[in-house]
Amino acid sequence: MSGKTVSAPDVRAMKGVRPIAMLTAYDYPSARLVDRSGADIILVGDSLGMVILGYPDTLSVTMDTMIHHTAAVARGVEHALLVGDMPWMSYHTSPDEAVENAARFIRAGARGVKIEGGRPSRIEAVRAILDAEIPVMGHVGLTPQSVMAMGGFKVQGKGEAQARKLVDEAKALDEAGCFSLVLECVPTELAELITASVSIPTIGIGAGPACDGQVLVFHDLLGLYDGHQPKFVRRYAEIGNAIGDALSRYVSDVREGNFPDELTESFHVSAEAGMGALYAGREG
Ligand code: KIV
Repeated sequence: MSGKTVSAPDVRAMKGVRPIAMLTAYDYPSARLVDRSGADIILVGDSLGMVILGYPDTLSVTMDTMIHHTAAVARGVEHALLVGDMPWMSYHTSPDEAVENAARFIRAGARGVKIEGGRPSRIEAVRAILDAEIPVMGHVGLTPQSVMAMGGFKVQGKGEAQARKLVDEAKALDEAGCFSLVLECVPTELAELITASVSIPTIGIGAGPACDGQVLVFHDLLGLYDGHQPKFVRRYAEIGNAIGDALSRYVSDVREGNFPDELTESFHVSAEAGMGALYAGREG
């Protein structure tokens, strides 16, 4: 890992060279940990609505919330490319509003933004953001901000018509100038076809091994989220259990009078401080 910060053109140039590793982070400590792992891209995902804020989906996440978390993550990142995930309704109403909101992410420390979908109005927003010199990552397949229209969090592109539509959207995002493209919850065969059809790296989540890179949500990978776990999540640790165990041991130590230890975990006045009179009666 070089000391240089990864840029959007660096990520674009990784296609066909080596797989890209991307992870989410939502605050300063998670950003430090992910950055030190050597990940190429850190996404401040709007998934924070679910894994940090406890909402059932991402639709309640606002621009102010995303900017608050992006600024915290930015303070912890030295190496990875930091991408801010534009929340629902931050790029849907007009290209001008999309540019204003993308600029807020950049001012908070992001070096690119991600938007969901590939229909013509999204392509217009992508073009406007790119015209303001802000790199854009696309995202097609299961786009969680479309959960109402999709009727739930479901694998997309299983039928031929939908698969063709997703290929067309991916190509349109590539042609518009995105530097990379997230493929979420699509069949492996379709992800392979899209990966071969676009000039930019595809980054899969639930899209099989043929993508140019992979992304997972920090809390899923570490076993910190006890909501629904999709089949594509590989849990590399059970940190939630370790935290639960540590917290229970603290509570029982306090209840049993075993914390804090009087010598090693407590402060004492020195004899020379001359406060004998003040503490004289404390034993009684
Ligand atoms: O919000 C998010 O975390 C995402 C990734 C899963 C790609 O969009």
